[in-house]
Amino acid sequence: MKTQVAIIGAGPAGLLLGHMLRAEGVDCVVLERQTGDYVLGRIRAGVLENITVNLMERLGLDARLKAEGLVEEGFNLADGERLIRIDVANLTGKTVVVYGQTEITKDLMDAAAPRGLEVIYEAGDVALHDIESDAPYVTYTKDGAAQRIDARFIVGCDGFHGPSRKAIPASAAVEYERVYPFGWLGILADVPPCNHELIYANHERGFALASMRSHTRSRYYVDVPLTEKVEDWSDDRIWDELAIRLGPDAAANITRGPSIEKSIAPLRSYVFGTMRHGSLLLCGDAAHIVPPTGAKGLNLAASDVHYAAEALVAHFKRADQDAIGLYSGKALARVWKGERFSWSLTKLMHRFPEDGPFERAMQVAELDYIASSTAAQTVIAENYVGLPV
Ligand code: APR
Ligand code: PHB
Repeated sequence: MKTQVAIIGAGPAGLLLGHMLRAEGVDCVVLERQTGDYVLGRIRAGVLENITVNLMERLGLDARLKAEGLVEEGFNLADGERLIRIDVANLTGKTVVVYGQTEITKDLMDAAAPRGLEVIYEAGDVALHDIESDAPYVTYTKDGAAQRIDARFIVGCDGFHGPSRKAIPASAAVEYERVYPFGWLGILADVPPCNHELIYANHERGFALASMRSHTRSRYYVDVPLTEKVEDWSDDRIWDELAIRLGPDAAANITRGPSIEKSIAPLRSYVFGTMRHGSLLLCGDAAHIVPPTGAKGLNLAASDVHYAAEALVAHFKRADQDAIGLYSGKALARVWKGERFSWSLTKLMHRFPEDGPFERAMQVAELDYIASSTAAQTVIAENYVGLPV
């Protein structure tokens, strides 16, 4: 098979890019290792910046997002008994939308066939070849048979563990990494949220987050040492911990219920120093990881896709020879700002095992400053709502 762009991975990055290219008349094929149901089974964050909402709008795939998404005008930082509200709407003139990543993926998946976007699920042994040439190709197996796709470009949207980034020689880029000494234990339950806006809490027992998927479905997290096992956390134990860490006002409004999903996710900051090597471009988790604090993962994937689609369309439709070369620099400039924000919010809101009284005093001073300064709140708000592309 021959195409202009071979996309590896049908997560949100790969599907968004596929739709963007199809909408502009660029040929592409998406290859995914798993089944569609498996991809939809992954539970991930659900706070959308304008960039992500705008991409869905441009594709005309925002009907359900507009109908079911919850528009959020602010969020809260809790520290013990104190609650600091960040009035995102007033400080920035913009809002975020709470809509699960699973739902975005489903909307993109459902629209693929009607829009002529070819997605090949259950593609095994995907391998990239000749990425330093102008004629790269991808090999894979489908139903036991060997297959090959020739393309002008390959875009790796295959997440942190996919083969794309690994196809780039180690000498081509520096890796930047910070692994955190805790994970987030998440619980999803069909109960009304304890608050209509998100609460990120820093408590002496650890971090907690109250989030939601809808008016009737809640998503909560507590941080735990990486040695903890999910089996040791009964639903009751998690609800008890949340009630302590989120503070008395939120605790009074928590509705408990059985978990429908429960898992521990490690926290990591990671950036691969280039997002293009020859004819291979990287988008999303394939190139970078943020800790979930601030919900930037999906939104950074969306901005990568914005820049990648722009570059590929300029290349194919306007014979622009420079566009592809500019992709990595443009995408990384925004990625680093997202990394900085996620890292700083993680540091502000978690108790690190190595921290002593000085580090805690710095957290208190920073939270005091945020509570009393509109300028400080504006810095947080404009990063939370998403920096311009
Ligand atoms: N061959 C084909 N597909 C692969 C392979 C492979 N060898 N390895 C991984 N994939 C697929 C995965 O199965 C997955 O469906 O690539 C896809 C990558 O999707 P995600 O991990 O969701 O990554 P991305 O699309 O970049 O999503 C952006 O948003 O909420 C954040 O961090 C979260 O992952 C999320 C990110
Ligand atoms: C979520 O709703 O799952 C969520 C929200 C905000 C975050 C991380 C996760 O920062």
